[in-house]
Amino acid sequence: MDIKYNLKSASERRTEPFKPEGDVGFGKLRTDHMFLMDYRDGQWCDPRIVPYGPFEMAPGAMSLHYGQSIFEGAKAFMHEDGEIYTFRLNKNAERMNRSADIVCIPNIDESMQVKAINALIDVDRLWFPQQQGACLYIRPFIFATEDRLSVSPSQQYTFCVMLSPSGAYYASGVNNGIRLLISTKYHRAVSGGTGASKAAGNYAASLRAGKAAVEYGASQVLYLDSTNTQIEEAGAMNHFHILKDGTVIIPTFTDTILKSITSQSIMELGDMLGCEVRQETVMLDKFIADIEAGEIIEAGGFGTAAVVSPVSSYIFEDGRILTVGDGKVGPNIQRIYKLFTDLQKGNVAAPQGWVKRVERVAP
Ligand SMILES: Cc1ncc(COP(=O)(O)O)c(C=O)c1O
Repeated sequence: MDIKYNLKSASERRTEPFKPEGDVGFGKLRTDHMFLMDYRDGQWCDPRIVPYGPFEMAPGAMSLHYGQSIFEGAKAFMHEDGEIYTFRLNKNAERMNRSADIVCIPNIDESMQVKAINALIDVDRLWFPQQQGACLYIRPFIFATEDRLSVSPSQQYTFCVMLSPSGAYYASGVNNGIRLLISTKYHRAVSGGTGASKAAGNYAASLRAGKAAVEYGASQVLYLDSTNTQIEEAGAMNHFHILKDGTVIIPTFTDTILKSITSQSIMELGDMLGCEVRQETVMLDKFIADIEAGEIIEAGGFGTAAVVSPVSSYIFEDGRILTVGDGKVGPNIQRIYKLFTDLQKGNVAAPQGWVKRVERVAP
């Protein structure tokens, strides 16, 4: 499908590269345009790039009532050559369709999703924030638009891609770990539910747990399975821990854990990473005992936003604190973070097909 361009006039849009002086933060800024495509009469149609702005939507739009809405999150980086490169977008497109299946939204051809994102970045390339560690955050999402008040899959949808010029997650390296609340009260997913999707409702449901974590002085919740025996996720990140021989362990992907692209990439790096990475069911009791015995020396979360978020300690609901190692950010986490960000920035050659240049095709 060819994309139509309805762009802002030259006087309304950015004409110089974006060289911000202060911190641009995460997710706050927008670029000049967005990509839109509609689903009606049983097919996706009318792909277009238009000025960024509000949607017109019926109050009865089904996403507003029954939450049929899914999203993705990815990043693009500027390399030394001044060109913009995306990172494993095909994986995001694949996961978007997995989420779509889980909440009964029609799939969008993966290559069309990737084409849409590339076209939008190309149009708004001057918005790339030229600052140490900065990126263009990419937010594709799909929501139900049919004006009908019955609990059934909508017959109409919109696919939108927007971009947010964002600053470095860690302004001066990974220096501090976070604290996680081990919650037996709040759960993000149950088997047979929507936990393996990026459905908007999963994130609404996580807000109350996040608030509880803050009341304990923690940043986020360490989610357990519904029987409170296995470790699942660390807030909106996959959880991992590192054994004293350097082996990285990520809980096995199930239908209650989101298949993180960061985790998958770390598993696929193999020899480049210099340590074994494997998945297994992580039992909470053993995890605690192994930290106390010094068998587990580092832990954290993997995700697009931070790449790696080290955990320095866990807090239980009774106030007890479990410190990981000496509570400082360990050398394995530092090494993983450095390698991963070097791959994204093009300082180290990434595996074939991971990093792709955004071609200049806009009219
Ligand atoms: C619940 C959850 N788990 C894990 C992740 C990490 O996934 P990724 O590495 O693809 O960003 C995310 C973020 O997308 C998430 O929302």
